[in-house]
Order: sequence, then C-alpha cells, then structure tokens
Amino acid sequence: MAIKRVGAIALTVAEWIGVVVFVLVLLVVLVVAILLGWVGDPPPDLGTRGQAAAAAVPTVDRKPPKPSAEEAASLFAPVYEVLVSPRCMNCHPDGDRPLSDTGVHAMNVSRTSFNSGLACSTCHAEHNTEFPGGPPGPPGAPHWQLPPEQTPMVFQNRTVTALCKQLRDPAQNGERTLADLLDHVEKDPLVLWGWNPGGDRTPPPISHAAFVTHMRAWVDAGGICPGEKVAPVLGPEAETDTDTGTTGG
Ligand code: HEC
Ligand code: HEC
Repeated sequence: MAIKRVGAIALTVAEWIGVVVFVLVLLVVLVVAILLGWVGDPPPDLGTRGQAAAAAVPTVDRKPPKPSAEEAASLFAPVYEVLVSPRCMNCHPDGDRPLSDTGVHAMNVSRTSFNSGLACSTCHAEHNTEFPGGPPGPPGAPHWQLPPEQTPMVFQNRTVTALCKQLRDPAQNGERTLADLLDHVEKDPLVLWGWNPGGDRTPPPISHAAFVTHMRAWVDAGGICPGEKVAPVLGPEAETDTDTGTTGG
C-alpha cells in the first residue's frame, strides 16, 4: 500500500517536471524566434518598407517656373533665386504645410497645428539642435514659424514677375515698405538661419552679403519688376499720387 502510494506521488512529480520543461522549451523557442525576427517576408501586396515610405510622401512640385529671358535679366532675378531656394521656400509654401527637401513637413505639421496644441516651438528651438553625424533633428532660430494666414507670403509656384510684385505689395508683405524689406532680409533671424542651417542642408546659392547687395539694388530702383520701364509708386503715397493725378489734372 505504502509502496503503491509512493509510486503514485512519484508519477505526479514526474508529470509536473514534464509540464514545466515543456513550457520552458516553448518559451525559449518563442524568445529565440522573436530575437531572430522570425516573422517572414510581408505579403507582396503590402510592398516593402521603402515603397510604403515613398508612397507616404506626397509629391511636391517645388521646381520654380522657368524664367523668361526678360525675367532672367531683371534686377530681381538674383533675389528670386534665393527666395525660391529650399532654405527659404520651405517656410514660404503654397499651402498650410511647411516643406522639407523631400516633400512636405513630416508628422502632419501645418499652419493650424498650433490650434491643436502643437506649436512649432515644441520641436524647433532658438538654435539648431542637431549634433554632427546624428539624424536630421529640428533646425532652429528665434520665432520659428510660418508667415500668418492673412498674408501667407508664398514663394512657391511663383514666377519671377509674380513674386516681385507680391513682395513689394504692402497688402501682401505685412505692410512693409521697400526699406522694411531690406531691413528684414538683412537682420531677421529666420533669414540669417538660411546661411547656418545645420545638418546637411545646403545654404542659398549666393552669400548673405551678395543677397543683401542685390536686394538693395532692387530697392534703390524702386522695386522695379520685369516688364516695367519705371517703378510704380508704392504704399500710401500711391493713393495720394493717383488722387493728385485725377483731381489736379
Ligand atoms: C522658419 C520659417 C522661415 C524661414 C526658414 C524663412 N522665413 Fe521668411 N518669413 C517667415 C515669417 C514667419 C515671416 C513673417 C514675419 C513677419 O511678418 O513679422 C517671413 C517674412 C519674410 C519676408 C517679408 C515679406 C514677404 O512678403 O515675404 C521676406 C522678404 C522673407 N521672409 C524672406 C526670407 C528669406 C530670404 C529666407 C531664406 C534665407 C526666409 N525668409 C526663410 C518665416 C520664415
Ligand atoms: C513634432 C516636432 C515638430 C513640430 C511641431 C514642427 N517641426 Fe518642423 N521639423 C521637425 C524636424 C524633426 C525637422 C527636421 C527634419 C529634416 O530635416 O529631415 C523639421 C524641419 C522643418 C523644416 C525644414 C527646414 C529645412 O529647410 O530643411 C521647416 C521649414 C520646418 N520644420 C518648419 C516648421 C514649422 C513652421 C512648424 C510649425 C508650424 C514646425 N516645423 C513644427 C520637427 C517639428
């Protein structure tokens, strides 16, 4: 009787040991499988990761319209070349989303992000935050933001003539005179950032000093645009001038 009992208990212990060993082996196989990334290839219709990433980036036509011969020879042409360079155009997009060199800004960031609690300054500091060799981090400069909704100051998809006329128009440039515009491109931290962009980003095609020189020449010529023989009178004086013209005639 006693021997029979011992036998029965021994069997139970052996069974338990068996169960524990079985579970342990299963666990080890699972862990090894996970560590080896034993997940197989995705079904063909899901595509590879590269294809998915490429499909997720909306195509953006950031190539500026080809200038006419007259436009290319104008005083504004070298200024235009800087304005449509990526460092400037990325923040002066034709739409609500800032651009990146590969498409539009990642993470669905737009002019309206602030309304949903995501300010640009959440990620963009007052200086570049990348370290050499690191991944492309958020670049930074004081008051990093997009131009306001009322005057979006679009540089993308504008011809030389269109951008020239838009830039000098106080109703579209934030009520700036030509002198204010010159001051802005000389001193604004967002403009200066373009020549210290961090990461692998290419600066605009000419130096900041050369850019300011071309801008000054354009301003001194009254903001003349391609197709014009004389520069128009701009700002509040424009109305006064028209008034004098009609009443004093
Ligand atoms: C981080 C975004 C950002 C970048 C980068 C940027 N800008 Fe701007 N830009 C702005 C904002 C915002 C304003 C409006 C500021 C205001 O009204 O006070 C502006 C206004 C301007 C204006 C004034 C008037 C107008 O109609 O456009 C000029 C000129 C200008 N930027 C030129 C440049 C140039 C040149 C570069 C590149 C070297 C550049 N910007 C890069 C955000 C940016
Ligand atoms: C959630 C974080 C985050 C927010 C919020 C954010 N950004 Fe960015 N932004 C980044 C990162 C990261 C990069 C760098 C990506 C790269 O260069 O590939 C970047 C890059 C950019 C660039 C490209 C600069 C260049 O010329 O290469 C622009 C322009 C820009 N951001 C504008 C903005 C504006 C304007 C806002 C607010 C409306 C904003 N970002 C909000 C993270 C953010």
